[in-house]
Amino acid sequence: MPLIKAIAISRHGGPEVLESLDLELPPPAANEVQVRHTAIGLNFSDINVRSGGFYLGDGPAFPIVLGNEAAGVVEAVGSGVEGFTPGERVAYAGVGGMFFENTGAYAQARNVLATHLVKVPDWITDQQAAGMLLKGLTASGMVHRCFRPSPGDAVLIHAAASGVGSILAQWYKHLGATVIGTVGSPEKAELARRRGCDHTILYRQEDFVPAVRRLVPEGVAAVLDGVGKDTFLPSFDCLRPFGAMINYGNASGPVPPFNVMLLAQKGYFALYRPGFGWHANTPATLRSACGELFELVRTGALQIEIAATYPLAEAAQAHRAAETGRLAGSIVLLP
Ligand SMILES: NC(=O)c1ccc[n+]([C@@H]2O[C@H](COP(=O)([O-])OP(=O)(O)OC[C@H]3O[C@@H](n4cnc5c(N)ncnc54)[C@H](OP(=O)(O)O)[C@@H]3O)[C@@H](O)[C@H]2O)c1
Repeated sequence: MPLIKAIAISRHGGPEVLESLDLELPPPAANEVQVRHTAIGLNFSDINVRSGGFYLGDGPAFPIVLGNEAAGVVEAVGSGVEGFTPGERVAYAGVGGMFFENTGAYAQARNVLATHLVKVPDWITDQQAAGMLLKGLTASGMVHRCFRPSPGDAVLIHAAASGVGSILAQWYKHLGATVIGTVGSPEKAELARRRGCDHTILYRQEDFVPAVRRLVPEGVAAVLDGVGKDTFLPSFDCLRPFGAMINYGNASGPVPPFNVMLLAQKGYFALYRPGFGWHANTPATLRSACGELFELVRTGALQIEIAATYPLAEAAQAHRAAETGRLAGSIVLLP
């Protein structure tokens, strides 16, 4: 059995707990495809898995190879696999379960059930595929299942230059919404405007609630919030009645417990808390959702920003960079 290099953790903690392992890679089992990774997507969820604290019940069995997302080339197929042949370019984002289950993308290669793979078209590079699939499917879930704008609707997107935020900003702009984005720096504001934001707010320098109300006195139709602790509760004051509050992440920390009566007191709101794995969780919905994403890139409606690449062996440095929040766009690890 060939040995492959992987990055794993044997305990929770900071980037220093990431360690290099040599693993034996068995041949693909029935219905599995062996994928040689060429680009691995770094997601905030990898940092959450590394740090711990997300598990209900018993904790995980260590060591855990991190990672939910990668692109690469088919090396071999197991029995029963149809539709994939060696040499084809493929990618995946999640292989079933929650983001902390069935991880293993931080490796030179991996066996993946064929049902979780998609083919990568010519116009998408491997790095783009690894940098866009999980984040794009997250955005796709919000666009298709949580809130679709009508003409004249304004939306507020927190951390609009982030990996998911910049895809949301472009997509909601493409759908005709007026897009307001909060950002952490003037450089990110510039990028967010290039990526579809009509207005940007430096939310570390000014209170975003009055700033949004100045732009849209009646309130926005939806808030898309991947920041969590620092933004969630004040965001209700930005919404118009019957608006949609969508919290999809906790980059600043978990949303604190709150009284659900708030939804009625402040404006008859809908609250969503999506998890990307639920949105496209059958082979047909996965392929259709990825097909739409790839098409949005082909037509230029969606541009995928690769903020930085790091060798897989330097995953700890990549985690440090991701945690500071100073980069804008996707981080990709190269095996
Ligand atoms: N629900 C799902 O299925 C799903 C899927 C993918 C991601 N997520 C979650 O969505 C969130 C964003 O993911 P992403 O891939 O877009 O992340 P990202 O590209 O790493 O960006 C995160 C951004 O959050 C902002 N931020 C605010 N407070 C922060 C803090 N204390 N530390 C670090 N960053 C902070 C920063 O932007 P500014 O400088 O502009 O403030 C930072 O760039 C994460 O919590 C992630 O776990 C959820």
